[in-house]
Amino acid sequence: MAESMAGLKRSCRCTEVTEANIGQELTLMGWVQKSRNKGGIIFTDLRDRSGIIQIIFEESDCGTESFEKAERLRSEFAVAVTGVVEKRSGAANPNLKTGTIEVRAKALRILSESEVPPFPIEENSRTREELRLKYRYLDLRRPDLQRNIMTRSRVATMVRQFLADEGFLEIETPTLIKSTPEGARDYLVPSRVHPGSFYALPQSPQLLKQLLMCSGFDRYFQLARCYRDEDLRADRQPEFTQIDMELSFVDVDDVLDVNERMLKKLFKEICDFDVQLPIQRMTWREAMDRFGSDKPDMRFGMELKNVSDVVKDCEFVVFKSALEAGGSVRAINAEGQAGMPRKKIDALVEFAKGFGAKGLAYLAVNADGTYKCSFGKFMKPEELDALVAAMDAKPGDLLFFAADKDKVVFDVLGNLRLELARQLDLLKKDDFKFLWVTEFPLLEYSEEEGRYVAMHHPFTMPMEEDLPLIDTDPGAVRAKAYDIVLNGTELGGGSVRIHQADVQEKMFEVLGFTKERAEDQFGFLLEAFKYGVPPHAGLAYGLDRVVMLMVGADSIRDVIAFPKVKDASCMLMEAPSEVDKKQLDELGIAVVAQDPAAE
Ligand code: AMO
Ligand code: AMP
Repeated sequence: MAESMAGLKRSCRCTEVTEANIGQELTLMGWVQKSRNKGGIIFTDLRDRSGIIQIIFEESDCGTESFEKAERLRSEFAVAVTGVVEKRSGAANPNLKTGTIEVRAKALRILSESEVPPFPIEENSRTREELRLKYRYLDLRRPDLQRNIMTRSRVATMVRQFLADEGFLEIETPTLIKSTPEGARDYLVPSRVHPGSFYALPQSPQLLKQLLMCSGFDRYFQLARCYRDEDLRADRQPEFTQIDMELSFVDVDDVLDVNERMLKKLFKEICDFDVQLPIQRMTWREAMDRFGSDKPDMRFGMELKNVSDVVKDCEFVVFKSALEAGGSVRAINAEGQAGMPRKKIDALVEFAKGFGAKGLAYLAVNADGTYKCSFGKFMKPEELDALVAAMDAKPGDLLFFAADKDKVVFDVLGNLRLELARQLDLLKKDDFKFLWVTEFPLLEYSEEEGRYVAMHHPFTMPMEEDLPLIDTDPGAVRAKAYDIVLNGTELGGGSVRIHQADVQEKMFEVLGFTKERAEDQFGFLLEAFKYGVPPHAGLAYGLDRVVMLMVGADSIRDVIAFPKVKDASCMLMEAPSEVDKKQLDELGIAVVAQDPAAE
């Protein structure tokens, strides 16, 4: 039986009621968290998005009809209660914002009943995520997810306000655009009107915002939905939202400045955290050398050290062959961990192998100054002493060494450093360490494609002083690109753009585009650049990631109302799905049956 709310008006949300309302009659509406019948008196926790308040039903106050309805209340019934606010008759509940008050009901309406929900609606749910995602609308009733989604809304509002105050215009760009295959895979949308042709969903509004600069809007922003068909991770979704911006007549410092002020405001208002300005800047080279990562977590030290020089004359074949092949030997010091059990060390070796290491050498400095070392028998005692000295290791410390090509060494030690920090509980979620990583390489060599690819995107400006290298040593050219990193996560990235047609053409050439292909894919941009393009630069954050770090969520899914799971499907709507043959026929599309044996 579902009653109407005719004649009723909600007075306020549950936790907006305070002791100041004692004696007043109010009407509250929400869901039953739980209801306990103590014989003659029924205690019901009423919940809405603000939180919980206790309702008390006694027949003498609310009459027989409402009392009988109250006896039927079960979790997740949607109800309306009219009653009088009073001081709690029993002990106060310090866990509730409304813990010192209650509402003595005078009337109850059951607006709709609920079946027994498939899992309890509670904070920190232990229900498996697949089930929660299938019933996401119920999952979203849980207080932690409600808080996350509400925080997300506040962040979006604050971003809009801040950027508008700074003279940015919010401009929407289309989501049915031209496919420009660079970066991730595109999601394609078939055209009915142009059979055989496809739109792409934007991976970002990059080219369109550059065109808006050509049009003279000079400061643009958008909370833009982006689509990338790439493997999902804890901080990646196939569709996500960018805080996207672009500015004209600026250089790197101008972009960083306005963004630092925005971050300061957001983190103060949402997390009550004071971001110290200016935010530290570090070149990509330094980040790799010191942390083995282009997004270093700055909440702890354990920096990498290059010990190649120290071991260059040793006979340990692992080190020797890595150096001979042009690689390096680097190490980190896990201070005070010399007593780490062998089993744990072995697990770390396996962890390292997951990142391409052939092995992981270690050396523990015992309390008495002797060493326990996995490669001691291959080294002279004075060589081990030199390593210990180079690593500033004290008795009680544990050193891990990786020897390989630089790329592997960085990946292994960069990740090992993080893993050790996790195990040693060095990562505090409410500590926010920001970092700008600057001067990224313009290009990286793709073994897979046998050519250079743009590290950021093909419109990123090389550093002026490196321009002469672009033909002779493309890999050494640095870009006017920057990432904003927070606690080891890339929050956002951007760059100064190329605004000179000749540099842009050169860039396409280095990327292996023929003139025709560049023209075909980006002709409209090159054409636009012929009509007075202003120098411009920009940046985009992953809004989902920003909120995820603000609320301390472990997964990006916890800050998105309807996220997708690992295989990019939506458990709730069961998308993607097959469509009617009629729909396919209209699009001129035939589905080729997959041979399961071929997979
Ligand atoms: P970029 O590709 O670095 O730059 O993306 C900017 C930011 O978007 C977020 N992000 C994602 N978040 C969730 N799921 C994903 N799959 C995902 N992919 C990216 C990250 C990232 O830092 N047009 C340029 C920006 C510019 O140059 O102005 C761009 O898209 O937080
Ligand atoms: P082995 O002689 O194979 O037992 O190796 C001696 C030690 O070197 C072991 O602790 C291995 O894990 C380690 N090791 C092997 N390959 C590498 C490598 N590429 N980098 C660092 N340590 C390695």
